Amino acid sequence: MKLSKLFLSVAITALLANSSYAQEASKPTNEGKDLTALNETIKTIHQRKSVRNYIDKEVSKEQLEAIVRAGMAAPTAINAQPWQFLVVTDKELKAKYAEGNRQADMINKCSALIVVCGDMTIGNERSRAYWDQDCSAATENILLAAESLGLGAVWTGVFPGEERIKIVKERFGLPENIIPLCVILVGYPEGTDQPKDKWKPERLHWNKY
Ligand SMILES: Cc1cc2nc3c(=O)[nH]c(=O)nc-3n(C[C@H](O)[C@H](O)[C@H](O)COP(=O)(O)O)c2cc1C
Repeated sequence: MKLSKLFLSVAITALLANSSYAQEASKPTNEGKDLTALNETIKTIHQRKSVRNYIDKEVSKEQLEAIVRAGMAAPTAINAQPWQFLVVTDKELKAKYAEGNRQADMINKCSALIVVCGDMTIGNERSRAYWDQDCSAATENILLAAESLGLGAVWTGVFPGEERIKIVKERFGLPENIIPLCVILVGYPEGTDQPKDKWKPERLHWNKY
């Protein structure tokens, strides 16, 4: 009787120890939270949101150049920098692009469009395979730079939709070798769009998937 009790208590202790170990290993980690709150760059990253509502105020040429400059600072495969950026501030051109577009309202309301394009004449066959990743990195830099200047921006997808690529190429008269990745809308935010909390600790894997 005594022996079986002892066995039972050893078994329970082992089970508890085991489960607390398991809990510890899979415990959601929050260790990055303090740095997230302190660091200005990380704060901007978390503040960024897609802004689709703008007030009627023009973004200056200086601001637009600063954010495209941030785009050009992005990393690229073999440092090819295979991009071209078309900035559209002309109201008529914007309206022409908005025609027939389901997002016409926000296109007309924003202050500027930035068409982020891949240039198929830059780099070599190896680097060109990465053009969309390179241009995506530039796009994210632009979105973050806009946020940091108190502006609002949204990435609207073009590539790889064949129909959308055709429309953007036609409306903006892009040459054959130029493929638009996306059109970024930029403006002064109305203040209604808010960032989302996307932190999912269970998607973070340490050393072992
Ligand atoms: C490749 C890509 C294409 C997108 N296309 C559109 C679009 O056409 N229209 C739009 O309003 N938002 C578009 N978005 C923005 C996403 O809807 C937005 O990033 C997502 O809902 C998360 O919201 P957040 O940016 O506020 O964090 C696109 C984003 C990406 C990365």
